[in-house]
Amino acid sequence: EKGGFETFMEKEIHDQPQAVADTLLGRTDAAGQLILDELRIEPEELMAVNKIIVLACGTSAYAGMVAKYAIEHWCRIPVEVELSHEFRYRDPIIDPTTLVVSISQSGETMDTLMAVRYAKEQGARTVAICNTNGSTIPRESDAVLYTHAGPEIAVASTKAFLAQITAAYLLGLYLAQLNKKLFSGQIKDILADLAAIPKKIEDILERKQQIKDLARSMKDDTSVLFLGRNVGYPVAMEGALKLKELAYIHAEGFAAGELKHGPIALIDEGQPVFVVMPSPMDRHSLHAKVVSNIQEVRARGARTFVVAERGDTAVEAYAENVFEVPETQPMLMPLLTTVPLQIFALELSSAKGYDVDQPRNLAKSVTVE
Ligand code: M6R
Repeated sequence: EKGGFETFMEKEIHDQPQAVADTLLGRTDAAGQLILDELRIEPEELMAVNKIIVLACGTSAYAGMVAKYAIEHWCRIPVEVELSHEFRYRDPIIDPTTLVVSISQSGETMDTLMAVRYAKEQGARTVAICNTNGSTIPRESDAVLYTHAGPEIAVASTKAFLAQITAAYLLGLYLAQLNKKLFSGQIKDILADLAAIPKKIEDILERKQQIKDLARSMKDDTSVLFLGRNVGYPVAMEGALKLKELAYIHAEGFAAGELKHGPIALIDEGQPVFVVMPSPMDRHSLHAKVVSNIQEVRARGARTFVVAERGDTAVEAYAENVFEVPETQPMLMPLLTTVPLQIFALELSSAKGYDVDQPRNLAKSVTVE
């Protein structure tokens, strides 16, 4: 049941530390090596993979985008991410060295199922990242990497998203281990940082009142923009999708670098803008660029709400409201920065008196094309 919470969504947001921990559980041996035997694809075959295509819809596709950043960085294998319904109808180029990774909470999304079937027909190997045991997509795939988020009841996906990102990291690290693209010490360090994530999510949940108060104060706003870069970009889009689904207000997520190519024209007096800050340790020094973006939108009257790493003092001068997340390595930040955005959407929806668990016009799993 709802475990003492008012809605399933709130409960599921609080299940997230467990969802990440359970998805990591049992996937390493005593020596700290990743063991993904369950993949049932021969290591030789995985080592021959020279392109990965991730297929998914909605929130699961944003998990796919995070996977792209991580897998390309760690494994040096090109990764394309495509919405399942677009992929299927565009003559994609696939061969037996293409690994198709589908991501689906339900395992029943018709668009994704059709895309996986199509990829199989074209000769690709298929792996499903899925949260539902024995559902159709994993049954029809060559291999499956289950996320262990437990049943997700609320229509808006939360804990499944964090579990999908976790599973995608594991897949990336496993491929890096097989192909010797990372030293075993590096893999161990990343796994240790992953293992520390559940506690850090708890730290965020303990401070949720700050976000709740903010959401309540914004219940008459009619449009909210979200900016992010690198792995923060899919987080920005996920923040916007949550708000569309739950609060029925116009929301858009942008890559912060794209701002000056058009979206900045949307900024006028009072426009709320959420900014997902990159880590100050980001190896591309994106942090300074996003600080400039905050200044640019503020100069045009935007109200800025920034999700930033604890100790990131550079943003404080510019943001109206800063929500801190604990430190982790830059690639793993989505597991933390997503959480305040989920709480924000949940709270804004309930402040407006909407049904958080059953938003209008939506179904939990979309079983028609
Ligand atoms: O079950 P799936 O992960 O395949 O579902 C994909 C999307 O329909 C799903 O993520 C949808 O976008 C959610 N309502 C997001 O909150």
